[in-house]
Amino acid sequence: MASSQSPSFPLLLPFFLFATVAIARSTHEHREKITHLRFYFYDYYGGSNATTVSVVSPPGNNTFGSIGVGENILREGPQSSSKLIGKAQELTVQASLESPAYLSALNFVFTAGKYNGSSFSIFGRAVLTEPIERGIVGGTGKFRMARGYTISRLIKSTGTTQMELVMAYDAYVFHC
Ligand SMILES: *[C@@H]1O[C@H](CO)[C@@H](O)[C@H](O)[C@H]1NC(C)=O
Ligand SMILES: *[C@@H]1O[C@H](CO)[C@@H](O)[C@H](O)[C@H]1NC(C)=O
Ligand SMILES: *[C@@H]1O[C@H](CO)[C@@H](O)[C@H](O)[C@H]1NC(C)=O
Repeated sequence: MASSQSPSFPLLLPFFLFATVAIARSTHEHREKITHLRFYFYDYYGGSNATTVSVVSPPGNNTFGSIGVGENILREGPQSSSKLIGKAQELTVQASLESPAYLSALNFVFTAGKYNGSSFSIFGRAVLTEPIERGIVGGTGKFRMARGYTISRLIKSTGTTQMELVMAYDAYVFHC
């Protein structure tokens, strides 16, 4: 078995080990930060100002399998006049046979303030009537190497055919 190995393998091995140690050492020196962010998420359905559209409607009267795409608005505060700080690109799939529970992926892109140009992404299960916890799975810019979690809850829901939903988000982000 050993004789079938490429002759260059023993030469490459020490370099590989060296690289691994160097990465481990530099990660050790680089202190990770934890940042708590509070922001508000505005989602509009229906009408000319919709930020979310339903792109797949399942056959029959089912909601299971429906898919929505959104580019929702992030603001500093809970009033729709408060400062715009970014957008949230979103994909949601109604993926529960029993009750409306969504499989969701969101990318929060900040366009103002300290995190202008940076982003982080979350993925997980969402039931709108409960506090929602989802994992932070990555980020860019100031949020490179991000991980952590968000807790969000619905604080406002108005209308039926034209709806405004506002959610308060707390994000706890570990990043470089
Ligand atoms: C859409 O937005 C505009 C500008 O903010 C506002 O004047 C209008 O009332 C909104 N329309 C709806 C249907 O919400
Ligand atoms: C959908 O629901 C309505 C009202 O409950 C019913 O009349 C209709 O037959 C249903 N349609 C299908 C395709 O199941
Ligand atoms: C955010 O950053 C972009 C690119 O650097 C810049 O053009 C823009 O003016 C910044 N926005 C704010 C509100 O600072």
